[in-house]
Amino acid sequence: MAAIGPRGDGAGEAAPLTLADYARSARARLAPAVWDFLEGGAGEERTLAANTEAFDRYWLRPSVLRGASRPDTATEILGRRWDAPLAVAPVAYHTLAHPAGEAATVRGTAAAAAVPVVISTFASRAVEDLTGRGVPVWLQVYCLRDRAVTRGLVERAERAGVEALVLTVDAPHLGRRLRDVRNGFRLPAGVVPANLTGGDGFADPSVHAREEFDPDLDWTVLAWLRSVSPLPIVVKGVLTGADAVLAIEAGADAVVVSNHGGRQLDGVPATLDVLPEIAEAAAGRVPLLLDGGVRRGRDVLTALALGARAVLVGRPVLHGLAAGGPDGVTGVLRILLDELTDAMSLAGVRALADITPDLLRRSGDR
Ligand code: FNR
Repeated sequence: MAAIGPRGDGAGEAAPLTLADYARSARARLAPAVWDFLEGGAGEERTLAANTEAFDRYWLRPSVLRGASRPDTATEILGRRWDAPLAVAPVAYHTLAHPAGEAATVRGTAAAAAVPVVISTFASRAVEDLTGRGVPVWLQVYCLRDRAVTRGLVERAERAGVEALVLTVDAPHLGRRLRDVRNGFRLPAGVVPANLTGGDGFADPSVHAREEFDPDLDWTVLAWLRSVSPLPIVVKGVLTGADAVLAIEAGADAVVVSNHGGRQLDGVPATLDVLPEIAEAAAGRVPLLLDGGVRRGRDVLTALALGARAVLVGRPVLHGLAAGGPDGVTGVLRILLDELTDAMSLAGVRALADITPDLLRRSGDR
């Protein structure tokens, strides 16, 4: 009789069915210090844990007999159609996970869905090799002390066809990531930012950030960025309604509710938990995106029900990349999409416009 059930320990044997399967497979392939760099958070990692736990406090309230067998996941954000309300979050140095780096991420994403890939200031492949390949590419910007270098990066990206700028505002310096401190983490030889000019000294990301990031930015940085580029500006790293209002008043075209995947200030709340406050303050004036802890299609539904227009996914994309290169990235995004359409269909949600707070019940609510 054929054996029923999983074979072996499951690591890399059976086809991955969930994002957790991809995470296990990536962990088995990566050097422990690289895994820690990708996976870790700041301090005691309370915020990191909170990001995923927050989703588990919500239950879904389905509506039956709604004829929702083929849900439509498409949306429009910043004037562009997205196949689904998700995008790839900016993560530095994809060549840590796969030799083809961001080029593999872009290829793998394009094979799954037309959704944006946000590349980091510390992308490890040239931006010209990433644009024009089937998905919109956005550039995440760290504003450096040397504005000429920042400006050069933005202008280069614009020439290459990047469609939006994502200004990260939660990192005057990098958070204290204790795993990296304990491991004495340094980037392996050859892993370098491909789009930054000037200098080396990138090997220790936290030392480099302390030397190069402008630690004294204020809201006028948006006007400066606007003066160097006509591209839409998305502000990433907002955690309060008051800051969302300031971002909108300073000219942000969209806001990403983010705690940097728990890598900056440990002890800030889960992004999902601050989303309602921010949605209320923003009052629909700009699209809100959310990242942090999205690991299942139904998490996307939950974030949308609380006011996000779309979510960004960080670590899972790198897990796919480490586990299977471009095909792994495609696999991760397809699983998320399949889980999302499955959840929409079973919950009676025909299109994203049907998603309202009524879809949710919080644990413990009567
Ligand atoms: C990041 N993130 C990040 N953000 C950013 O604005 N610029 C960057 O260069 C990076 N680099 C980076 C590296 C690594 C290894 C990780 C894990 C994260 C934060 C990222 O954009 C996003 O906010 C979180 O990763 C989202 O949380 P999840 O999806 O990883 O839980």
